[in-house]
Amino acid sequence: MGSILELIRARRSIRKMTDKPIPDETMQAILEAVRLAPSWANGQCSRLLVVRDPETRALISEGASRSDNMKVCPVVIVGCALPGQSGNRHGQPYYLVDMGVALEHLVLEATAQGVATCWIGIFNEPHIKEVLRIPDPVRVVALIMMGYADEERNPRPRHSLEEMSWVDGWPQDAWHLDKVTPISVH
Ligand SMILES: Cc1cc2nc3c(=O)[nH]c(=O)nc-3n(C[C@H](O)[C@H](O)[C@H](O)COP(=O)(O)O)c2cc1C
Repeated sequence: MGSILELIRARRSIRKMTDKPIPDETMQAILEAVRLAPSWANGQCSRLLVVRDPETRALISEGASRSDNMKVCPVVIVGCALPGQSGNRHGQPYYLVDMGVALEHLVLEATAQGVATCWIGIFNEPHIKEVLRIPDPVRVVALIMMGYADEERNPRPRHSLEEMSWVDGWPQDAWHLDKVTPISVH
């Protein structure tokens, strides 16, 4: 089996897309990648709403960051979770992990299909739920804008492997211990 590293390297968060529609067969392949994702105890808690209707996208965009692009791009995926179909052990709610895995499958298959994506994590959940008639206790975890890129993006910087992976224990030197302090959330 081959490596998917080149695909991973090619992916970017694209925030400007054309309105060119995504063919049905391309969408099917992308959704199939989500369907096959692993999940906690195979609970398969993820549910996707594929929002194509321009008026609905415009309504959603009122409760999300990157709202202008959301009105233009042909598809917005609303990534939902049924938390009760996932697990929660030792303070770790696995539905968020399940959704991260599922949506990364989506993003990578989209990249392979030449479709650009941007994960949107800042949104007004009650607003999105109202617009799409999503019942409680479903949680909206992410929105993913999808479409054909209308901009080029350089790779964003990443930590080196030495800065983010260690063997047999956390490094004890002062610099690394300093990095344990909480990051500021903005
Ligand atoms: C959980 C999560 C939430 C994100 N939320 C947003 C967002 O609300 N708006 C946005 O423009 N980008 C968002 N992004 C995209 C990140 O900003 C982007 O992945 C990061 O800057 C690295 O750039 P790259 O994806 O092009 O490598 C989000 C990404 C993740 C994984």
